[in-house]
Amino acid sequence: MEVRKIGIREAKKRIKNDPELSKMLIKSGWNEISLDLDSDGMADVCFASTKLGRKIDTIAIDLSGNGEFNLYVHDLDGNGIPDTVLYAGDEGSEEGTVVAFGGEVELGFINLGVRVANLLVAEDFMNRELGLSLADLAAYLKMNAAIMLAEIEKRQEATGIEKVYYFLNDAQTYYLATVDGKQARVRPFGTILLHDGKLYIQTGKSKDVSKQIAADPFVELCAFMNGTWLRIACELVDDDNHDAKVEMLEKMPSLKAMYNPDDDNMQVFYMKDATATFSSFTAEPEVIQF
Ligand SMILES: Cc1cc2nc3c(=O)[nH]c(=O)nc-3n(C[C@H](O)[C@H](O)[C@H](O)COP(=O)(O)O)c2cc1C
Repeated sequence: MEVRKIGIREAKKRIKNDPELSKMLIKSGWNEISLDLDSDGMADVCFASTKLGRKIDTIAIDLSGNGEFNLYVHDLDGNGIPDTVLYAGDEGSEEGTVVAFGGEVELGFINLGVRVANLLVAEDFMNRELGLSLADLAAYLKMNAAIMLAEIEKRQEATGIEKVYYFLNDAQTYYLATVDGKQARVRPFGTILLHDGKLYIQTGKSKDVSKQIAADPFVELCAFMNGTWLRIACELVDDDNHDAKVEMLEKMPSLKAMYNPDDDNMQVFYMKDATATFSSFTAEPEVIQF
């Protein structure tokens, strides 16, 4: 699927030369063109370039008709294939936060399946005038919406250690506190893996954090996401488990530049006797032990 074929300047020229289209043009700047497709005075679609003089790399669409763009398609690396699609729900709606997918699936709340149909309304215009295939876009959204719905379902059904895993995975960053003699130490961590029923994190033996865990393995970590925070107090067990190391690197390929399972530096630890507490300002704490 291509999201950009022509530049902003060329698109503006085509629009201005077409009497029907020029009536739809409600805003045109150096990096954006906004069109009102249904003549209600509000922009329905915006084509933008994030870099001066570049081809269109971003399309924003108002799917709800309330004047707010809530679907964004980005092709920021310029390879012609969208790398991110962001869907922000209607303002004030219960379901709405943000969904992002492309290379990676992130947790979110959607009713994209319904809204995809609205996209097709604009299909002919897009295809004809801007060389953008909305049919492909709709197919892409539908496909990814199915993947996302499955991901969301998994999270909704998750309990126990799985629920803890998904929270840490989706929060992306947690803060790991260790004891260093009488001094507390804390730093950001992101590695997380559910392997063989155990929750693993990863580090390198050369780091201070590793030395502190070796001296005192009783740690606490904290992550925050969407109004909820999770604290886990546990003992970390150094596990020279080759399979877990391999799986960790497969899950987080960027680590491969720094570690390999046999390098005598890479370490994985699993959490033992863990007490995980989910807290928020609006609900009673939920405690999970594993
Ligand atoms: C978002 C983020 C995630 C990180 N995840 C990890 C990780 O999972 N494992 C790790 O060893 N270091 C990770 N780091 C790097 C550590 O925070 C950094 O090496 C830190 O200095 C280690 O603590 P220490 O200096 O006490 O050894 C991460 C850094 C950031 C910014």
